[in-house]
Amino acid sequence: MPTPTEAESARGAALSGLRSEGARYERVSDEGRQRVKAPRAAERSEAMDTDIDLGHHGDAEVGGGLVDFAVNVRGGTPPAWLAERLRRSVDDLAAYPRPGPARAAVARRHGRPDDEVLLTAGAAEAFVLLARALAPRRAVVVHPQFTEPEAALRAAGHPVERAVLGGGFTLDPAAVPADADLVMIGNPTNPTSVLHPAAGVLGLVRPGRLVVVDEAFMDCVPGESESLASHGGPGLAIVRSLTKTWGLAGLRAGYVLAEAALVAELARAQPLWAVSAPALVAIEACCSPEAVTEAGTWAAGLGAERERFATALGARGLHVVPGARASFLCVRGPGELRALLRERGHAVRRGDTFPGLGPEWLRIAVRDARTNDTLLEVLDDLDF
Ligand SMILES: Cc1ncc(COP(=O)(O)O)c(C=O)c1O
Repeated sequence: MPTPTEAESARGAALSGLRSEGARYERVSDEGRQRVKAPRAAERSEAMDTDIDLGHHGDAEVGGGLVDFAVNVRGGTPPAWLAERLRRSVDDLAAYPRPGPARAAVARRHGRPDDEVLLTAGAAEAFVLLARALAPRRAVVVHPQFTEPEAALRAAGHPVERAVLGGGFTLDPAAVPADADLVMIGNPTNPTSVLHPAAGVLGLVRPGRLVVVDEAFMDCVPGESESLASHGGPGLAIVRSLTKTWGLAGLRAGYVLAEAALVAELARAQPLWAVSAPALVAIEACCSPEAVTEAGTWAAGLGAERERFATALGARGLHVVPGARASFLCVRGPGELRALLRERGHAVRRGDTFPGLGPEWLRIAVRDARTNDTLLEVLDDLDF
């Protein structure tokens, strides 16, 4: 495991208040591997006490032959070339995973040193590692957003405050308490599809605070214009996922980009060999310049169909959150709409399990034009 150098530790000084040494960790071996002290049961159940089912995700809403507009994984994935590489990776399964080449590929893709990259079993593992490795005094999650960052913090025993954005769900820095020392935000955001300007997100960074940006859907944005993945320095951690664009939800592949000292700390909280050899093959392949170009081409096509679909939904009386930039739309309509669509064979993602939204909200994945048209036809037949 990498150990932070003095220089790295100094750079990480701004985060020292968040560090967990002593508070939640104890050293258990000469290698510096640390063990999480689980929060007491009472602490944990109090932290998990929330009005909303944070563990609900779109995958619970599909199946039974329903047309899937609930899960945001790109259709027709993984692409054949990637599936073939994964098949070939089976030949090497007898060996323990060696993350070096994949880590270097991620570092190259984002123009960062290798030691600022931690490969993870999906973005979901990254949230758990952050929650276990950090000891925030005041953790704030900007909502509505993907619920796992909050769930992971709560499961680790941390109280969580919600900064709920209003109106068009654009970023309002004033919604974040000035003394928050951990801020978690999604960009572009699930479920609103809103893309915050990079400058606005960077504006949340300040001494003594870590801002964690979930960029799981950033590759939906051509050129990734508002990404902070290449932005080094303290106070910022970027979480990325290969799940959505490459269709690898079942593989578990993602990574964290952060200053080296924080990466080392997260690595100490991570189980050994957490990222499988096939996942490493996928990470390395998807970070190649050819794959990045392929994703950019797909993102451009997605944008055109998203706009057409959003306009068509609006013409049918639904409110679509403006400025969508991810692979889904956030829609408000009659409270019974989701059930009516299910009766007619279409699954859309409920919105009421996202803090800040309610039963009249839905998240609808943008599929190919022909599939999207089937949903529009069902809407035409409904009387609301
Ligand atoms: C915004 C967002 N971040 C992260 C994730 C989890 O990604 P992964 O599959 O890499 O754990 C999801 C999955 O739905 C998501 O919607």
